[in-house]
Amino acid sequence: MSTKLAPVLVTGAAAGIGEAAARRVAQTGARVYALDRDPERLAALVSDLPDAVPLVADLAEPESVAAAFSRVDEDGDGLAGLVCAAGIQTYGTVDAEDAIETFDRAFSVNVRGVFLAAHHAVPQMRRTGAGGSIVVVSSVQAYMAQHGVAAYAATKGALNAMVRAMSVDHAHENIRVNAVCPGSVDTPMLRWAAAEFGGAENVEATIAQWGRSHPLGRVAQPSEVAEMIEFLLSERASFVTGADIKVDGGLTSGNAVVLPDEQEQA
Ligand SMILES: NC(=O)c1ccc[n+]([C@@H]2O[C@H](COP(=O)([O-])OP(=O)(O)OC[C@H]3O[C@@H](n4cnc5c(N)ncnc54)[C@H](O)[C@@H]3O)[C@@H](O)[C@H]2O)c1
Repeated sequence: MSTKLAPVLVTGAAAGIGEAAARRVAQTGARVYALDRDPERLAALVSDLPDAVPLVADLAEPESVAAAFSRVDEDGDGLAGLVCAAGIQTYGTVDAEDAIETFDRAFSVNVRGVFLAAHHAVPQMRRTGAGGSIVVVSSVQAYMAQHGVAAYAATKGALNAMVRAMSVDHAHENIRVNAVCPGSVDTPMLRWAAAEFGGAENVEATIAQWGRSHPLGRVAQPSEVAEMIEFLLSERASFVTGADIKVDGGLTSGNAVVLPDEQEQA
């Protein structure tokens, strides 16, 4: 094994929160394995981060994930960290015509994809002899829901439970496991949703409106979530495991009750 910092694998590294996490981890000097199903965007990332290793894989496909991790295995340095940021947003109620297909799609990436990545990452963390850190990107939707996100919200609740269970299983080998639960974050996923609901011509206005529902008055930048991810990966978080940490601008701290005098001021 080399004396360099042990590497970190980031899923969903080609865009949004995963990309920001990959860039933030690269700043620490650790090698990044950047896994994503989007080869073009991965190539763009790697042209910026020449030490990063691109791994094109689909987390919904077990063989594809196994092939990606075989590259990590061949390199022989193990893993110090795993960031699970790949995920998909789905919409629809439980009685929608395509509800079951939506449920299966959401769970295959958001839950089974994380399970698979952790399945392959844990043995690579043992290999370093120093434990490791797994950070799973969940969501505030694990705690509170908007309309039409039954399957997506269920995946995020499942992730928080899975994080707690994995933290208990692997604490004895100093593998810490935590979830980060963001509010709205300005990523391609959020911009896609803003175009769907507010129209392609109103994306900025829709995002600004969503931002106002957060007490801090705006949505997050991906780098603000990446800061928390990097902290949880690092030794600075050496006694943090099994936690789900909100990075939500206060979104889950308020409720929708408006007092009459506040209504008049508004
Ligand atoms: N953006 C938000 O407001 C927000 C809020 C809370 C939670 N989240 C969660 O954060 C995570 C990242 O979201 P984002 O906004 O950065 O999304 P994004 O769509 O902007 O980026 C996600 C990346 O994951 C990749 N990906 C998706 N499915 C994949 C698969 N099957 N295999 C491999 N790669 C795959 C995509 O190609 C993309 O590069 C998701 O789990 C999402 O649910 C996002």
